[in-house]
Order: sequence, then C-alpha cells, then structure tokens
Amino acid sequence: MKIIEVSDYKQMSVKAAQHLIGKVRSADSVTLGLATGGTPKGLYGELIEDHHVNGTSYKCVNSFNLDEYIGLSKEDPNSYFQYMCTNLFSHIDISLENTHIPSGMAVNLQEECNRYENLIEQAGGIDLQVLGIGENGHIGFNEPGTSFQSGTHLVDLADSTREANARYFSSIDEVPSQAITMGISTIMKSREILLLVSGSSKQEAMKKLLENEVTESFPASILRNHHNVTIIADKDALTLV
Ligand code: F6R
Repeated sequence: MKIIEVSDYKQMSVKAAQHLIGKVRSADSVTLGLATGGTPKGLYGELIEDHHVNGTSYKCVNSFNLDEYIGLSKEDPNSYFQYMCTNLFSHIDISLENTHIPSGMAVNLQEECNRYENLIEQAGGIDLQVLGIGENGHIGFNEPGTSFQSGTHLVDLADSTREANARYFSSIDEVPSQAITMGISTIMKSREILLLVSGSSKQEAMKKLLENEVTESFPASILRNHHNVTIIADKDALTLV
C-alpha cells in the first residue's frame, strides 16, 4: 500500500481530486467506484471546481456507489442517491443513466444485490474505487465479521455506524438499520483503490490498518492484500502510526 501523508482535509481532497481527474482525463472511458459520508465531500467539491474551471468532462464516466440505506427512497434527502446528486452529479456533466446506486426500496432485496453485482461485472469492473473507512474498520458498509468472500449483500448496520451517521438525521431512531453494500470481494476486484482518511477519530483505525494482521474482524485490513492501493491520509489520522 502506498501512503501519501498530507497536512489536512483540504490537502487530502486536493490530492485525491488530482489523482481522479488524471484518471478521467487519460482514458476514453472510466468506471469509478464512489463513496459517500463526510470524507469524500471535499474531493467532490474539488472535482466540481475543476469541471467549471478546466472543463474536465465526465461524459465518459460510469459510476457505481458503494452502498445505499434500506427504506429510503431516491427523493429522501438522506438517501445516498440524493447525497450524490447534491454533492457531485448535479454539478458536473456526468450522465445520470451512467451512475449506479443500489436501490434501497427494491421489493426483493436479494435480487437487487445480485442485479447490482452483475451490473458491475457487465460494465467490466471498477477501474478506480474511492473508499472512506469507518472507525471500526468498515469499508462500504461491510461491518466487522463480514466474509472476505462477500459480494453485494444486505447488511445490518452496527450500532456504532448508526451513531456515527446520526448527525445527518434528526434523531438516531431515523437512521435505517439496514443497507445494501458492495461486498469485500466486490471492492477487492477493483483495479485500483484510493482510500481517503482524515481526522483524529480515524487514528486507531489507521494504526490497526497498517500494523495489525489481515482479519475479518477489521474489514479494511484486506486492503493489504490488494496490489494497487493508495492511501491519502492527513496528519491527524496518522498520529498513532
Ligand atoms: C460510505 C461508506 C462508508 C464511509 C465510512 C466513513 O459510502 O461506504 O464506509 O466511507 O463510514 O464515513 P465518513 O467519511 O463519514 O467518516
């Protein structure tokens, strides 16, 4: 794993944007894996600014998001579909039909998981997957204990994850208790992974990621077995390393 240490969140976002823009500009078509949450918001802001200033086009980009809550419609302001529109898609020239997010409203959730996994395969897999990391080591919504063999699947969210995400809802009771997420094996099939980490709340997770063994009880540890991972982390996240 290649580690790039940067001073702060802004620099993490700028570096990540440079990497992603380079990828988008260098190929006729690119399939990106995208994350939500607080971590990539700055990256998306940088992409939007670059699109306006330098004209980088996303017409050749397909995207697959990591996850979506169960029970939230596309119109729900807390759905990851809305997050992506607000924070990125509505501000660049990506065509919405080339963007993909699992449906948390599917009648048959198992079928939706299979459909999503197949869709990624049919698109030829993911060229560059952007990831954040949970304090408990989750990637996507793959909580500790998730099988490394897992494909896209339905998950029960850990209490700690619901608590961490409650800041976006009016109360913790409104945070859905389930989600659909790409699995660990789905993520590991990506040709390249860019993990973004910022802030002191991620110190312990970074220490475990870099120093502990590869174990299903700390899902992100599997990234040590991937041949093309770049971590862009700020000083606060690397204090214990
Ligand atoms: C988001 C996702 C999660 C987040 C993680 C960190 O699509 O899959 O794994 O990346 O929970 O969240 P933040 O960035 O809010 O600290």
